[in-house]
Amino acid sequence: MLSALLGAFLFLVTASQSKMTVRHYLSLMDLSATELWRIINRSIEMKQQFAAGERLNLFKGHSAVMVFEKSSTRTRVSFEAGIHHLGGNAIFLAPSDSHLGRGEPLEDTARVLSRMSRMIIVRTGSHIRLQKLAENADVPVVNALSDFNHPCQLLADLQTWVEHRGDITGKKVCWVGDGNNVCNSWINAARLLGFDLTIASPAGYDPNPRLLEQCKGYVNIERNPLVAATDADLVVTDTWLSMGHEEEKEKREVDFKDLCVNKTVMSRARADALFMHCLPAYRGMEVDEEIIDGPQSVVWDEAENRMHAQKALMEFLLTSIDV
Ligand code: CP
Ligand code: NVA
Repeated sequence: MLSALLGAFLFLVTASQSKMTVRHYLSLMDLSATELWRIINRSIEMKQQFAAGERLNLFKGHSAVMVFEKSSTRTRVSFEAGIHHLGGNAIFLAPSDSHLGRGEPLEDTARVLSRMSRMIIVRTGSHIRLQKLAENADVPVVNALSDFNHPCQLLADLQTWVEHRGDITGKKVCWVGDGNNVCNSWINAARLLGFDLTIASPAGYDPNPRLLEQCKGYVNIERNPLVAATDADLVVTDTWLSMGHEEEKEKREVDFKDLCVNKTVMSRARADALFMHCLPAYRGMEVDEEIIDGPQSVVWDEAENRMHAQKALMEFLLTSIDV
């Protein structure tokens, strides 16, 4: 009797604590540098364990819900496969599948999904909606891309750098192209891990100004891609036309015409420089075929590492009990 009462008490304390201490991942800045390194190293370990045939039971008997309001290949598959490897199941909701698409309040959706799942993974065109959902969720909410940032991509990209080159601290990274969501997450990474990021974006396409201000000292804007890429250890780009900007296609093709990562740009970087792209890529636009399909490109490792890095992230979020 006493032990049953004690069990019930502990359950209630744990439940209320887990509500109070739930960790979301909406930005890289939700992690300390130590936590980020821990996730990267754990991801490398999990990748080896997965290759050796090991599977984990973290999600056993539980589900994660994926609310995706935008298209996805890598993020959707890497999360669904990763959740399966962790013993759980993923429930995918496109806008037309749920009542969100018919105007059910986000707050109500967050509360309901929290009662039925261990995690909510969201891809949305509105970072504000993502924050609102997280504020009303009692389980971890993960940003699977918003109009503001793409922090899951950076976990995989940083892991890929570490696997190929080791520590990124003090290195020179060059971003060529749109100051978009992925670029904003690179800015966060520069500040968190202490590397130098030079961004060659055309005027009018700079990254988020508040973020640039917060990360002053780690980030420079340099309009000329040849100058920006000089002595770079890593050159990164992304599409000129992110989801949601389709109607600007013609204008952007003109504004970005000098911002293709080609042989000339790469020749300014260090001889051992790597090339990254989150994908999907448009050959002949933001990157030439000979670069993305060439020996300096690590894009397929980046894509694969999405799965391992997100597994490490999910483990971290589900087992974290600190602030
Ligand atoms: N890199 C990335 O997030 O790709 P998807 O849009 O295919 O998920
Ligand atoms: N910047 C791109 C990234 C796609 C993974 C977009 O938002 O469409």
